[in-house]
Amino acid sequence: MSAVLITGCSSGIGAATVQWFLARGWTVYATARQPQSLPHHPLCRPLAMDVDDPASVRAAFELVGHELPRLDAVVNNAGYGLSGSFESISEEAIRRQFETNVFGLMRVSRAALAQFRAQGGGVLVNVASMGGRLSFPFYAPYHASKWAVEGFSESLAFEAAEIGVRVKLIEPGAIRTDFYGRSAEFVHDPALSAYNAAVERSTSRMQAVGGKGSDPALVAAAIWQACTDGSERLRYPVGPDARLLLGLRRWISDRRYLRLMRQRLMR
Ligand SMILES: NC(=O)c1ccc[n+]([C@@H]2O[C@H](COP(=O)([O-])OP(=O)(O)OC[C@H]3O[C@@H](n4cnc5c(N)ncnc54)[C@H](OP(=O)(O)O)[C@@H]3O)[C@@H](O)[C@H]2O)c1
Repeated sequence: MSAVLITGCSSGIGAATVQWFLARGWTVYATARQPQSLPHHPLCRPLAMDVDDPASVRAAFELVGHELPRLDAVVNNAGYGLSGSFESISEEAIRRQFETNVFGLMRVSRAALAQFRAQGGGVLVNVASMGGRLSFPFYAPYHASKWAVEGFSESLAFEAAEIGVRVKLIEPGAIRTDFYGRSAEFVHDPALSAYNAAVERSTSRMQAVGGKGSDPALVAAAIWQACTDGSERLRYPVGPDARLLLGLRRWISDRRYLRLMRQRLMR
């Protein structure tokens, strides 16, 4: 029987991925900061894990190591979006964004690699974003974190292959989850009035985009594919918007891309 550990399973993509793997007979170590929110299912093992907290990551992997002969895959899904004008966002808030989206993901990756190395292989799936290869206005720290996840994962893929580990990048477009609501950290300083109109327009348009996003099950299916296809493929864009925008970004100049996004989201 195959087993996977997933971070950030209380809602959205994480919760959908738990269901997807359970429905296919996998043992799922579903982790969340509040594990009481996790589903009751004979194959589901709810575990507490805050990716910001090294002790909680260590404890979860120790427990998995004791309980399982083999962990086939680890999915780094936990993350959130910090938005607002860069000038309004404190350095402390940016550090928190990186602590979860980048350092938390690296912390879990390190623990996963130790387990995979000991057992002779595994799959490490990192949920980045289409926003790890392009960007939208007023999300500078979030994009910086997801671009970091892209660079980290691509480079890690070389060395991980030496120990039989495949690294995967999932790049969702807009997905209907709590990302745009409960989980969002939006910072606004009305005193920085030069940004106000553009921030307002951009924020409401991004909210609308999120509301029309794809079902999180689409991302769960891509994560499943990444874990099971046995391929060397690194990147899995998810959703029609991700495929369209990533394709467009490759073909049009920086100048045209900036103009297009400014027109669509800020004016
Ligand atoms: N929705 C989109 O449009 C979209 C697009 C591209 C990429 N993504 C990425 O997809 C991933 C999942 O987001 P989602 O859309 O499913 O949003 P979501 O419904 O808000 O889920 C985010 C999950 O991350 C968890 N989390 C946040 N900080 C954590 C921490 N320090 N330790 C452990 N768990 C933590 C949250 O747990 P709590 O319940 O404890 O807060 C929640 O379970 C994120 O990495 C996000 O950047 C989302």
